Amino acid sequence: MWRLLFLLLLLVACTGEKASKPVPTPDLSKAEGRGEVLFVTHCATCHAVKGDRKIVGPSLAGIAIRASERVPGENAEDYLYESILSPDTYLVEGFVEGSMKQDFASVLTTENVDDLIAYLMTLK
Ligand code: HEC
Repeated sequence: MWRLLFLLLLLVACTGEKASKPVPTPDLSKAEGRGEVLFVTHCATCHAVKGDRKIVGPSLAGIAIRASERVPGENAEDYLYESILSPDTYLVEGFVEGSMKQDFASVLTTENVDDLIAYLMTLK
């Protein structure tokens, strides 16, 4: 029930944003295009992708570069995978445990996560 309400709220928030600024339609035949749509649905309420504005979480502008430097020995894709499915494994400085949504492992399919990561890797 609460999940449904949460999703509805997300949907409303996202539709509002789309109406106010025209965004080019993502190409759904590409992983990063599908990832962008997933991002708007699941992530954009908490994360900006431009500038350094903090919403609930940190801005993900430049995350493709930062992700490769976060954890020694972990490449960008692995770090992003972990950030989505197990958000508290690495905590971004200044944020507390549990502040990112914790249940993406059961909400998103493996393909969804791959698409999201393809999109995040375009944020250089
Ligand atoms: C409820 C708000 C919220 C939602 C929804 C959310 N996040 Fe986060 N996210 C956070 C917070 C807060 C942090 C910082 C704390 C941490 O490291 O876990 C974070 C951290 C991250 C990081 C690490 C950033 C860095 O600089 O290292 C990534 C990557 C990320 N989120 C991606 C996503 C993606 C992709 C989604 C959608 C599938 C998403 N988040 C949804 C709040 C959220």
